[in-house]
Amino acid sequence: MGEFVFFDWNATAPLAPESLAAMVEAAGVAGANPSSVHRAGRLARRILEDLREELARTLEASPRDVVLTGSGTEANNIAVRAPFVEGHGVLVTSRLEHPSVTRVAEALEREGRAQVHWARVSASGTIDVDDVRACLARGGVRLVALQAVNQETGVAQPLEVVHAECMNIGVPLHVDAVQAFGRTASPLLGTTRTVAAHKLRGPKSIGALVGSCGHRLHPVLLGGAQEKGLRPGTLDPMAAAGFLAALRSVSACQAGFEAQRARRDRLEAAVLALFPGSTVNGDTPSRLAHVSNIALAGLAGAEAVVALDLEGVGVSSGSACSAGTLEPSPVIAAMHDEARAAKHPHEPRADDHGRSCLAGDRSLRASCRTNEEVTRVSNG
Ligand SMILES: Cc1ncc(COP(=O)(O)O)c(C=O)c1O
Repeated sequence: MGEFVFFDWNATAPLAPESLAAMVEAAGVAGANPSSVHRAGRLARRILEDLREELARTLEASPRDVVLTGSGTEANNIAVRAPFVEGHGVLVTSRLEHPSVTRVAEALEREGRAQVHWARVSASGTIDVDDVRACLARGGVRLVALQAVNQETGVAQPLEVVHAECMNIGVPLHVDAVQAFGRTASPLLGTTRTVAAHKLRGPKSIGALVGSCGHRLHPVLLGGAQEKGLRPGTLDPMAAAGFLAALRSVSACQAGFEAQRARRDRLEAAVLALFPGSTVNGDTPSRLAHVSNIALAGLAGAEAVVALDLEGVGVSSGSACSAGTLEPSPVIAAMHDEARAAKHPHEPRADDHGRSCLAGDRSLRASCRTNEEVTRVSNG
């Protein structure tokens, strides 16, 4: 078998050589449990604290307000739940969010802790800012939880106005910055932000919640006193060392992603010429330069993924966390629904009946994510 060209960087970015080197070095010196009080434990602990300080510095927060977690998923769970543990109110979020936000929102509603306002989205995959503002103006909002950049389309969300409005009226804004951090130089807004190492070429299984939302945080897992009891479980000093190295090269990493625009646009033009009737999902100026999501006319997403895999090209047809399900992408469904609602205003929207109107034509979608720094993986 030949080489494998990896275009799936939104699922996870390959480990950078400097992250790997830092992890190997940490393995030699920090094999102890970072909670142990002996010298070896303190050495492991130092790596976690260095990471905490670097995250705080990069994201302009206090080190006290950095909770290290095992993933972006954990950080989002903690942040979105926090305001509803001690009080009931409205949660504003959207169907474009990652499941680590949407599923928590659904659970909070089921548990009777929150009333969820699913913000309208545009057909090109941006949040409807006026809808969010209108909801804020009605009052009772305890948290707005929105993403900075979408995981499937790469569309950067217009959060400036939402941020300003939230700050004005004292409502916390949680921003899921997992796809933005290390990939765009734009400042990360929000009172709390979720980041994950593996999107900026660090290791998997380490993330962080950074900032303070004004509500007391509560753990979503029960266990030990790590991270002031907010995230029980032994943290991995090797992963922390890899994350720290990735953070230290964050500007080079961003530049690598941002340099892809011309190449990505050429790729899209070639695919659209090959498959007449196909369209680019989320084709707006705010889309990040390294992401491409194409609805291929007449070809099922899953079939396209398999066919490209056989040709040695790795792409996805949705979020990695939904791989293996036959459901259409909720993100593309929400965008498609909006386009459909504009044409047929009297038919119900996805949000009205809680499921996607795209279910009938899912066979038309495929998505791919590109990055010039193509990783070549030998598969035998
Ligand atoms: C926007 C977004 N949020 C959250 C996550 C979850 O991060 P993790 O995989 O570290 O749990 C992802 C993962 O792809 C993501 O794309």
